[in-house]
Amino acid sequence: MRIKTTLWIAGSALLLSSCNSDKTTPGYTYMDDMYRSPAHQTYEPGTTKLPVDGTVPRGYVPYMIANTNEGYIESRANSAVPSYYATLDAEAGKELYGQFCSHCHGEKGDGNGILMQREKILGIPGYGADKLPDISPGSIYHVIMYGKNNMGSHAAQLNYEERWKIIKYVWKLRTDQTPGAAPAAADTTAAQPAA
Ligand code: HEC
Repeated sequence: MRIKTTLWIAGSALLLSSCNSDKTTPGYTYMDDMYRSPAHQTYEPGTTKLPVDGTVPRGYVPYMIANTNEGYIESRANSAVPSYYATLDAEAGKELYGQFCSHCHGEKGDGNGILMQREKILGIPGYGADKLPDISPGSIYHVIMYGKNNMGSHAAQLNYEERWKIIKYVWKLRTDQTPGAAPAAADTTAAQPAA
């Protein structure tokens, strides 16, 4: 009888001593790896490191021209277009243009989109050379990246390729909107690798 009691007390003591008031640890454990992962935990000190300076995500093309008035003027002369721009089919950007630009600039690029008709946003230009004599594919890229006055930036909605598809389509609309212009005649930008 006494042996039984002693064993019972000893067993309970052993059992209790394996408990732990710290809720974040399992106390004494058998086969530790089952409880404590040997792998690093997310954000554990020493695991998460900042990328090396100058690292860019795959597929990301940095744009170095500043969001200033001087930057805008500079962008007009920026002829750094991707190598495929010259052979890009303008129609490839039509759908994207319809999703992101036509509600303001109009399906034809005449500046008469639905928001203009309803007078929600005013001062939207048509793309014709009479309205915007100085724009270039480089300056359109600039405006897509940073926006301009009442037009917001579209950099977050469009990736690099999509921006160029839209620009090609805008340039086609510009040609259509420019009386007397030969098709695509104004698009003299030579294909160069992007900066
Ligand atoms: C919310 C309405 C709105 C949307 C959407 C919009 N724009 Fe504009 N856009 C404007 C307004 C307003 C201006 C006139 C800005 C100014 O010069 O004051 C403008 C100006 C421009 C210009 C002429 C900039 C210059 O150099 O003077 C271009 C090119 C242009 N937009 C292209 C686009 C393209 C491409 C898209 C779609 C990706 C787009 N816009 C979407 C409102 C819009």
